[in-house]
Amino acid sequence: MSNAQLSVRDLEVRFPTSRGVVEAVNGVSFDLERGQMLGIVGESGSGKSVTAKTLMNLLPRTAEISGDIHFDGEDVRAIASGHRKHFWGVKMTMVFQDPMTSLNPVKRCGEQISETLRYHLGMSREAALKRSIDLLEQVGIPEPARRVKQYPHELSGGLRQRVVIAMALACEPELLIADEPTTAVDVTVQKRLLDLLDELRRDRGMSMILITHDLGVARGRCDEVAVMYAGRLVERAETEVLFSDARHPYTTALLRTIPRIDQPSHTRLVPIEGRPPELVNPPDQCSFAPRCRHAQADCLEGVPTLTNLDGNREFACRYPANTEAGRTSFFANEAAGQTVTGLTIAQPSEVN
Ligand SMILES: Nc1ncnc2c1ncn2[C@@H]1O[C@H](COP(=O)(O)OP(=O)(O)OP(=O)(O)O)[C@@H](O)[C@H]1O
Ligand SMILES: [Mg+2]
Repeated sequence: MSNAQLSVRDLEVRFPTSRGVVEAVNGVSFDLERGQMLGIVGESGSGKSVTAKTLMNLLPRTAEISGDIHFDGEDVRAIASGHRKHFWGVKMTMVFQDPMTSLNPVKRCGEQISETLRYHLGMSREAALKRSIDLLEQVGIPEPARRVKQYPHELSGGLRQRVVIAMALACEPELLIADEPTTAVDVTVQKRLLDLLDELRRDRGMSMILITHDLGVARGRCDEVAVMYAGRLVERAETEVLFSDARHPYTTALLRTIPRIDQPSHTRLVPIEGRPPELVNPPDQCSFAPRCRHAQADCLEGVPTLTNLDGNREFACRYPANTEAGRTSFFANEAAGQTVTGLTIAQPSEVN
């Protein structure tokens, strides 16, 4: 077992459905050190939220989970099956994309934060209300004494998300998981909220997992970034390493979808061709192969394993981008006009 604050090993989550078993998370492992910020990125359906909800013990009962999760050396899955209170919501909390999933529409904002404080920390009604006002102030809500008396629908989307953040921070968590916390708000508010989370994290030495489908959001904020594809972790690296020297062709494809500062603003962003695979009965092959410009015949034989290189990065690809093997495979596909899976490569195209 590692010394990390959070350690996840071989996590698998399956959902039995009428269509078959959905393999939503497939062998995910990572560590998070205290005070660090880990970004989890990937397209819709890649398993980001399911991973987070597993950590938070929020999955439906039908979910079949295997693997190990340790927080501060404690077995989190054992806590989930026991009766211990005050773990989720205190040591580990989560902020969701849509503030209304966390807020009760018929309760005043102050009451909602106070309830958390009273339940978990045993505060008196008065002390909890006072602390709620302090918390709203800390997350930058103007006139907090007036806001505590308001209902969620009386606030703007940005302010509502601040209330949710205040609620998540109420018990001074050691780890905050933010799942697309700013998707529902406009770009300026998004930046302000992310700056706020960053500042609070630094002030409190709190660790954070920031989930987003946007690599641009993760850049400059996260210490490390993990890339998920079809329920698997396909690459993980220190943020700057990932942005300057990515290995997985899925990561480089994602990178081509975000605007670069050095590009003129009218530069066309390149969407990733094709769609993510079905998670019911996935074939025993690299799940990105059908969309990959590097794909070779052996990519269809078995799932490539995550290779750990010198501790600061790992990736699961046999023909990695920014390497000789990757370039050779790409040029061979380009010369043929298509890959082994029939993906056409229009010339001239950019190589990684
Ligand atoms: N309760 C459930 N029952 C069946 N399948 C589920 C359930 N919850 C999630 N899934 C499936 O698991 C897969 C991963 O979903 P998840 O919500 O983790 O994706 P995500 O990466 O968070 O995507 P997004 O960016 O859209 O939020 C999806 O295929 C989803 O349909
Ligand atoms: Mg999600």
